Amino acid sequence: MKNLIEITYQEKKIKIAWSFTLLDDLTDDVLFSSLSDQEREIADNFSSHSRAKEFAAGRYCIKDAFAVYTSGTKPQNITTSAGVWGNPYIEGSDLNISIAHTDKCVIAVCTSGSFPIGIDIEEYKSSNDELIISQLSDTEKKIAAVSSLDSEALHILWAAKEAASKLLRTGFRLPMSLFEVSNIIQEQEIWHVYFDSLEVLSVIAANTKSRIVALALPTGSIIVNGLEALCIMDKIWKD
Ligand SMILES: CC(C)(COP(=O)(O)OP(=O)(O)OC[C@H]1O[C@@H](n2cnc3c(N)ncnc32)[C@H](O)[C@@H]1OP(=O)(O)O)[C@@H](O)C(=O)NCCC(=O)NCCS
Repeated sequence: MKNLIEITYQEKKIKIAWSFTLLDDLTDDVLFSSLSDQEREIADNFSSHSRAKEFAAGRYCIKDAFAVYTSGTKPQNITTSAGVWGNPYIEGSDLNISIAHTDKCVIAVCTSGSFPIGIDIEEYKSSNDELIISQLSDTEKKIAAVSSLDSEALHILWAAKEAASKLLRTGFRLPMSLFEVSNIIQEQEIWHVYFDSLEVLSVIAANTKSRIVALALPTGSIIVNGLEALCIMDKIWKD
């Protein structure tokens, strides 16, 4: 199914709708006309046009993902807001949503309100390695060293932490020690990331070669069409 990841969790079937766009693929007219009045006011107050565009693209994608999730047409009349810790939500809806962007692209996911999720995208740049290493604990450096401290493992670790922080809705407003990774396992194209304290959630991640995508889910989630779904994304993402 297009733009749907299917999951089973404790014998329940869950679907996660996703939408991705490259910023260069959409004109300002298309992006900004998708905003509600309330969202437009926020966009107008950003100091840079690039941030306003990124924000608008997040809303564009979340409305797209909402339409996929509800099997409806793209809604004109819904509006997103930010919760007390910056977590995005759709006003009047109990669905869970998550948004991530880089300077080139945006992705958004939407699922049942009963199923917490968090998404992150990172551009894959080896020049970021030093910065990521500086944020890791000694244990995490050892874990990444198993993968030769290679750039890919480092980016996966970092994207996993961000995705986990979004699932919790706090972002990095909690001590970083809480996001300590206890294990990363690579199976074919997919990485699985587990946390020391946060055993209730884990992350699946993939490297599309241009960027890393990481999706945080309740631990025990089984992705029925995971590889397929990520491969579909991969094709879109190879720009
Ligand atoms: C949440 C956080 C990890 C996002 O990482 P990032 O590198 O800034 O940006 P990303 O592209 O990955 O994600 C941005 C999106 O995260 C979402 N987000 C922001 N805060 C969030 C939260 N608490 N929970 C879940 N999602 C959140 C937003 O939708 C945002 O996009 P939008 O502003 O266009 O709506 C990071 O911003 C954070 O930890 N913030 C909290 C701490 C903070 O504010 N520090 C700054 C002051 S010291």
